[in-house]
Amino acid sequence: MMMRPSCNGESPISLGRVMMRYLLGAILLIEMVASGFRLRADALSMNYYIMTCPMIEGIVRNAVSRALQDDPTLAGPLLRLHFHDCWIQGCDASILLDSTKDNTAEKDSPGNLSLRGYDLIDEIKDELEDQCPGVVSCADIIAMAARDAVFLSGGPIYDIPKGRKDGRRSKIEDTINLPFPTFNSSELIRVFGQRGFTAQEMVALSGAHTLGVARCSSFKNRLSKFDATHDVDPSLDSDFAQTLSKTCSAGDKAEQPFDNTRNDFDNDYFQALQNKVGLLTSDQTLYDTPRTRGIVNAYAMNQAMFFLDFQRAMVKMSLLDVKEGSRGEVRKNCRTIN
Ligand code: HEM
Repeated sequence: MMMRPSCNGESPISLGRVMMRYLLGAILLIEMVASGFRLRADALSMNYYIMTCPMIEGIVRNAVSRALQDDPTLAGPLLRLHFHDCWIQGCDASILLDSTKDNTAEKDSPGNLSLRGYDLIDEIKDELEDQCPGVVSCADIIAMAARDAVFLSGGPIYDIPKGRKDGRRSKIEDTINLPFPTFNSSELIRVFGQRGFTAQEMVALSGAHTLGVARCSSFKNRLSKFDATHDVDPSLDSDFAQTLSKTCSAGDKAEQPFDNTRNDFDNDYFQALQNKVGLLTSDQTLYDTPRTRGIVNAYAMNQAMFFLDFQRAMVKMSLLDVKEGSRGEVRKNCRTIN
């Protein structure tokens, strides 16, 4: 049984807690099956690589664990990489393809320029190619790395079906469909609804912002509404507005954590929203809008409820428009099609 490494100087979690997480994960899966949850991708399964690459789980988890020990701030980027992959063209590793002279790929769109984690995915792919050549898709590697980053940062443990194929299309113009940080709650409910997510699942997924940072360019819109003498944005705490102004004085790329515990997967993010110190418009709106405020309050009060909803929504997200059979391939190199 693996122990979580200490990424933040705290003592490692106890074996009992790890076992409890495994148990909760197993209960969740049984519950999902019992409640009629069906995998839309019929060829995918939890044991997809059991015969062809049995060491896969350990290889991915150890690589992510080593990477987070070196750089705990990588957990957020790994999780975000998975979201940005799945949202555009489905979970098919389209985000990993490099631009060519004839094609500008997704990763070079403005909304994706601050993504990180590509080198770690390459490293894991190389190791898997050594162990089981031509078997494991890059799309599965991203999904597993994100899942492990969540767990290793203190979040829930859960399993995901494997067997996604890698796509052959990656175009900058497709990324227009990523949600904007200036979206309000209604817009978020609409765009997530178009992908089959409920408002509650959208709020749970937004809880991913418990990890990581945003750059000034993503939240400076909130400052234009704010003036030091007249607090014209009642949803923004005035001290926090000063902090954001200070951050932005260092330029558009200056970073601000989403909450006080940027490397820990917890429910601080939701408490921040209650305290009017949510970072993006799309974060704070979840508390400011009556339709989603109750969900924020529930997650802020009950971390176990957030974890359960989050892992359930993540499994669902990891199945968005997955490619099977000849609709995709297993790339030899995650950055180029075969
Ligand atoms: C609800 C709609 C969402 C919007 C509008 C949104 C927008 C953003 C923006 C603008 C950033 C900062 C980018 C930058 O300034 O460099 C960010 C960061 C992040 N997003 Fe989202 N996001 C959303 C949902 C999600 C979801 C569903 C996930 C994962 C399941 C996710 C995971 C992350 C993570 C972990 C970071 C921090 C990355 C880092 O530290 O580098 N986001 N998001």
